[in-house]
Amino acid sequence: MQAAAVALVPAAGRGERLGSRGPKALVPVHGVPLVVHAVRGLLNAGCVRRVVVAAPLSHVDTMASVLAGAGAAALVVPGGADRTESVRLALAAALGESPDISIVLVHDAARAFTPPELISAVTDAVAAGAPAVVPVLPVADTVKRVDEKEIVTETVDRADLRAVQTPQGFALDVLRRAYAAADSHTDDAGLVERIGVPVSTVPGHPAAMKITTPFDLAVAEAVFAR
Ligand code: C5P
Repeated sequence: MQAAAVALVPAAGRGERLGSRGPKALVPVHGVPLVVHAVRGLLNAGCVRRVVVAAPLSHVDTMASVLAGAGAAALVVPGGADRTESVRLALAAALGESPDISIVLVHDAARAFTPPELISAVTDAVAAGAPAVVPVLPVADTVKRVDEKEIVTETVDRADLRAVQTPQGFALDVLRRAYAAADSHTDDAGLVERIGVPVSTVPGHPAAMKITTPFDLAVAEAVFAR
């Protein structure tokens, strides 16, 4: 039997970087909001039993009706003051609905075109016993460290560096413990590292790119099918 997970999508941010007036998750690609693409991808993976989206307080109803209108089944809950709080609230809602879940994915709506195969690979790795799993890609650019004057101080060896994507997958108890100890903003796997739990990797995919800037939006419009 294929492993089943719940997926949390913290999408309660304002999205200033994309220059949109509303939440970034509602910015359209091919006329369809990023959050709809993201939820569809999660549901298409076949291993996600339920999706919970955390929306800005002002946009809970809008996001719920946009998702329902697109046939992308998700529970939409109000997000919190920061991302950590939004994940906590989404997790509580997911557990309220599905108390028997044991695998939790945390996904970014901005990675709207993440291939379903990548979502399955993360879920399968957790199901196989990894407490925490992140999709990663090698770092293609040369990486330099700079000082406060932007003068280069060091060329960083990139051989053991990885760029991290989402969804990040967790055994439920590990994510709960990590969030109980969370005090500042990092990625979810970063919180897990802090409680001393090993984080495994699976190969990421270029299509799981984060759509953050108007340039990324133009790339997404050009690359991804309608
Ligand atoms: O604003 P920032 O870049 O930290 O947001 C990172 C992610 O966390 C975004 O996907 C955003 O929607 C989400 N977020 C959230 N709740 C908040 C703030 C941000 O879900 N209160």
